[in-house]
Amino acid sequence: MEQELNQIVAGAEQSLAGIDNMPLFEAVKATIVGPNGSFTNVRKNIGKIPKEERPAAGKLINEAKDKIEALLAAALERIRRAELAARVGPAVDVTLPTPGAVAGSRHLIMQIREEICTIMRRAGFAVAEGPEVETEFYCFDALNTPPEHPARAEQDTYYLPEGAVFGNVSRKGAERYLLRTHTSTVQIREMLKVKQPPVRIVSPGRCYRRDTTDATHSASFHQLECLAVDEGVSVRDLKAILDHLFKSLLGEESKVRFRPHFFPYTEPSFEVDFYSGHLPKVGKEWVEIGGCGMVDPNVFSAVGYDPEKWSGYAFGFGLERIAMILSGVDDIRYFYQNDVRFLSQFA
Ligand code: DAH
Repeated sequence: MEQELNQIVAGAEQSLAGIDNMPLFEAVKATIVGPNGSFTNVRKNIGKIPKEERPAAGKLINEAKDKIEALLAAALERIRRAELAARVGPAVDVTLPTPGAVAGSRHLIMQIREEICTIMRRAGFAVAEGPEVETEFYCFDALNTPPEHPARAEQDTYYLPEGAVFGNVSRKGAERYLLRTHTSTVQIREMLKVKQPPVRIVSPGRCYRRDTTDATHSASFHQLECLAVDEGVSVRDLKAILDHLFKSLLGEESKVRFRPHFFPYTEPSFEVDFYSGHLPKVGKEWVEIGGCGMVDPNVFSAVGYDPEKWSGYAFGFGLERIAMILSGVDDIRYFYQNDVRFLSQFA
């Protein structure tokens, strides 16, 4: 019997070796361990062996069974791999360049943001950033905006749930968190950080308001804020930097004008319109772009600057607005849909 078992194992090894598909594997397997298989038959015959030889025979059968099982398992694994490799095809060279890959490009809003930051850096301003999750103190109180101001109402501002805590956003006290409604918040964070004027920063970034989305409104949008604090700063300096910025951005014939307005954090305050050579062609002359003014003494007091000693100007405007006017985009929603057909026009 030992010889017979050895033959069966050797035969199994030989016939399984060349097999590369499942149907053949199953057929060969059946000839060994199927109901009429060679190994099955040997097992069936154990009853015919004299009683005293049975333990030794059983041992031999078990050893052969282990060997056959191992051979079947190895063959199965090899066939599975071969079948998978056949389905996947030849190995891919991952070091080759992707066929038809297009170079990415900056989003139009980011292009405008970078362009303005470059102009302002050359004029001596640093770029400062602040958190988009803010607190009432930085967004309103320190900016001389009292609790009864409409901007602070629930329907105008996204407040975060009472009790929420953002470890990376510093608070003045236990005031509520919100999504910032403007980038003017960075004025306060920067003045508190710098402690001593001069301060000259621009701060671009995303803002949020509870606006219903339409062609000119979006609940999330971008602004750029500017703050300059020093001794003897005047409205003339403010007008000069805005003229410089818009001439650099839009060409020499571009200019800005101020209209009296009210903002809590500046006194006097103005709305800013700009003019550019191409505007009359699109039926416009002056386009309102943002707000500005001389930093209100109460804002200086809120950050511990002596309002008698220091003066400063600030302005802020929306980046989408500029991008829309400059590039003839008539719906703000295009900026956020990430449709490559739209975006690639500005690549
Ligand atoms: N924060 C204003 C807004 O969101 C814009 C603004 C107005 C910024 C006057 C200023 C400023 O710095 O002085 O509409």
